[in-house]
Amino acid sequence: MKIPFSPPRMDKKIIDEVIDTLNSGWITTGPKTKLFEKNITAYGGHHATLCTSSGSAGLELMLRWFGVKEGDEVIVPALTYSATANVVVHCGAKPVFVDVQEDFNISVEEIKKAITEKTKVIIPVDLAGFPCDYDKINALVKDKRIRKRFQPETKEQTDLGRILILADAAHSIGAYYKGQRSGNLTDLTIFSFHAVKNLTTSEGGAVCLNLPEPFDNEALYNYLCIKALHGQTKDALAKTQIGNWQYDVIEAGYKYNMTDIQASMGLVELQRYDEDMLVKRKHIFNSYTRALSNYDWAQIPLYEDQDKRSSYHVYLLRIKDIDENMRNRIMKFIFNKGVAVNVHFIPLPMLSYYKNKGYDINDYPVSYDNYSREISLPVYYDLTDKMVEIVIKAVVDSVEENFG
Ligand SMILES: Cc1ncc(COP(=O)(O)O)c(C=O)c1O
Repeated sequence: MKIPFSPPRMDKKIIDEVIDTLNSGWITTGPKTKLFEKNITAYGGHHATLCTSSGSAGLELMLRWFGVKEGDEVIVPALTYSATANVVVHCGAKPVFVDVQEDFNISVEEIKKAITEKTKVIIPVDLAGFPCDYDKINALVKDKRIRKRFQPETKEQTDLGRILILADAAHSIGAYYKGQRSGNLTDLTIFSFHAVKNLTTSEGGAVCLNLPEPFDNEALYNYLCIKALHGQTKDALAKTQIGNWQYDVIEAGYKYNMTDIQASMGLVELQRYDEDMLVKRKHIFNSYTRALSNYDWAQIPLYEDQDKRSSYHVYLLRIKDIDENMRNRIMKFIFNKGVAVNVHFIPLPMLSYYKNKGYDINDYPVSYDNYSREISLPVYYDLTDKMVEIVIKAVVDSVEENFG
């Protein structure tokens, strides 16, 4: 039996909703995208939501909105997917990597050391769906001494008066921190609806707006609709209204809008997300934990504590006292038993582009340690209890065949 790593959940409900959109005569941004945005806002508890073509597009759009440019610095964890840092590079700014903690999330102590006069944004990443320490991160940027060092260069930066927190919540829709959902934990939060994510629209993303006064999140939403559509003052649907064809372009904007085909998948996914998808994922996490806790070599990931609850996106198993080569060897054994596993992620300073820029993995020992001993196990809606048992057996046998 072959067990894939993360196939999407595609059932009749999703297919019917997509077909309904295809038959509706409107397939790009339109009523379903607007409804999906409203539903995400109600779900997250933040002020407004802009759906985008991807999570990356959402991240970049908001860096550009804040005026991030050459000469600026953006603090990013060393252990994340490349999108988190690539968008900073697109803006001409410098990603400043900081190390993570044992729980895979960015270290607030390391953020403190990395802040300079050039820091404009911090991008915490809720890796695998486990929320970062938002109280500490939010408090840090409001700290008087850190505020004093902030040097605003745009109206948005002046209005905020401090470093912006742009949460990369690509993995964490539905996660909780102190009773609040991801989306409502800091200034701006970005979800990804990529095909392997908990909630998918095939590709897609969302910007959750939650800015403090003097910002008007509703007004910002209206502006971002324009910014995400080439700076055009009317979208395609508005232009089809009788006599409404004229438009203006107020800036050289981007093409980051979500389509109604994507949104139709998202509408179905979100409606059953808590009661169905999250319950299933939590069950799989707990099954792995129950079985693997019996082995001394298994380091069980943290996915719930008194303040936080994960979205159960990726199960980050670590094997104690092994090196990267042994991890790779164990993964090979697991693959040979018909089970697909993965690694989240290769730290960015180890990847050619960033290595060639002078970043050195030796500066990020916890990121390296987490990475070198980590094996991500499959978690998805259609993974049955029988399949979970097969995964567990493949992992246990593969570890024990190597150093049992
Ligand atoms: C941590 C992280 N950030 C950002 C992204 C980018 O999301 P998207 O693929 O929707 O652009 C991903 C996607 O895999 C991710 O894992």
